[in-house]
Amino acid sequence: MRRLAKIPDEVREEIGGCFVDSLPVVDEDNRKLLKLNDETFILLRWSDIDVNQHVNNVKYVGWILELAGRNSHHIIEATFTTFSRALRQATEYDPRRCGSVPSVVKHEHINSSFRELFSSMEEGNNVRVCVTGGSGYLGSWLIKKLLEKGYTVHATLRNLDEDRKTSHLKSLPNAESRLVLFQADIYNPEEFEAAIQGCLFVFHLATPMLHTENSKYKDTSEAAIAGVRAIADSCLRSQTVKRLIYTASVMSASALEEDGTGFKTSMDESCWTPLNLSYTYNNQFILDYIKSKTLSEKEILRYNEIETGNKLEVVSLACGLVGGETILSYLPSSLPPVLSQVTGNRLNFDVLRFLQELLGSIPLVHIDDVCEAHIFCMEKPVLRGRFLCAAEAPTIEDMAICYQQNHPELTISQELMSGPDGRSKCDVSKLRKEGFEYKYGMKETLDHSVECARRLGSL
Ligand SMILES: NC(=O)c1ccc[n+]([C@@H]2O[C@H](COP(=O)([O-])OP(=O)(O)OC[C@H]3O[C@@H](n4cnc5c(N)ncnc54)[C@H](OP(=O)(O)O)[C@@H]3O)[C@@H](O)[C@H]2O)c1
Repeated sequence: MRRLAKIPDEVREEIGGCFVDSLPVVDEDNRKLLKLNDETFILLRWSDIDVNQHVNNVKYVGWILELAGRNSHHIIEATFTTFSRALRQATEYDPRRCGSVPSVVKHEHINSSFRELFSSMEEGNNVRVCVTGGSGYLGSWLIKKLLEKGYTVHATLRNLDEDRKTSHLKSLPNAESRLVLFQADIYNPEEFEAAIQGCLFVFHLATPMLHTENSKYKDTSEAAIAGVRAIADSCLRSQTVKRLIYTASVMSASALEEDGTGFKTSMDESCWTPLNLSYTYNNQFILDYIKSKTLSEKEILRYNEIETGNKLEVVSLACGLVGGETILSYLPSSLPPVLSQVTGNRLNFDVLRFLQELLGSIPLVHIDDVCEAHIFCMEKPVLRGRFLCAAEAPTIEDMAICYQQNHPELTISQELMSGPDGRSKCDVSKLRKEGFEYKYGMKETLDHSVECARRLGSL
């Protein structure tokens, strides 16, 4: 029709009589081309491509609709992957040789245009992700990395008017065009729904550290559990979220026996911290934190077992004590314990002692690795379940030696050189087996923590 419209009026008048005044006859050739694998659900038909082996946009939309319902959260990823694979297979079959499809398109043309498409996918363009607790230590570093990689980020925080919580995020490269801030409090968990809408992945990092009195919840555990339920339910309702990644803590994965008399052979993803024990170096804040992290991690992993039809994948990353640099304007709360041997702060050193009493070692991870691990868990085509995330698990003694060797200018007093007895093996191989590689070990994590504290005037 478009071509006909371009014919000058006088020519059209002259040849008009030769045209039949009826609707065009459309030959639907539904013979199927090669079947792709079972995961894609898309079959390329002869009638899907034109003589130049192009697929038009309407057909793309048709394919997306074909996918929707069955696997709608895979739409973006699967559609692009499928186009590429389908066209490659179609051209490798080379119908020109059979004489059935005249083609002027070269393989290289198709490949190069899809290469462009893929590279934009790989850089995260057009993929929206949500980060709860975006203004915190892990949240802000994760957002920085996601923006660098080209993702669009919906970040939640409790108070959008607090400049100290927003300015470091707003000044990140690409923030102006690809960062959207939302206000949401775990004590009003329905507030997260708006931030989750339209996202393909959700990272849930926000955690209530202090209880909000006079709320509908009895303590931080109740609030945290209600929070993970509301967030997981929003993911299910969204029809877009493929995977929910929860930032858990190794403190929920102690290998202590139920009666606290000793450690199991090894600490790994099968271990859950008994919640009825008391410790030499504990305090109520830490006990409340462990309870809320443990119960909410169990609750969120339960969504992997629920038959939803929507196939929401839930991953929990039980992270070790995090050290390294920060984009915050103040020292993040996990650095004082990491640095306690060299600062000499006894209260913070008690946190280290508690960790060794609870876990048999100090599983340690660098801020950059912990955020890379989150992104790794997001970018895996399929992933669910629980993973410990720590590069190494030194003891307090190992850390002291490391500080002494690399920072002889910093003195450690004798009583801060060692911790409670009873070392437990910490098996953090599961994430590595998935293909994740840590870039930083104990030395770099401690070095960068020292540099960070010096830069911020805390050492
Ligand atoms: N740092 C570590 O060593 C470590 C280790 C293992 C696991 N983790 C986990 O990593 C996550 C982030 O911790 P972090 O070290 O980055 O701590 P952080 O800097 O204190 O960040 C905590 C975040 O939680 C948010 N939050 C607190 N109460 C909230 C509430 N009632 N409603 C909504 N958000 C609330 C805070 O939001 P506002 O900014 O609005 O206050 C803040 O962004 C937590 O889940 C933590 O358990 C941390």
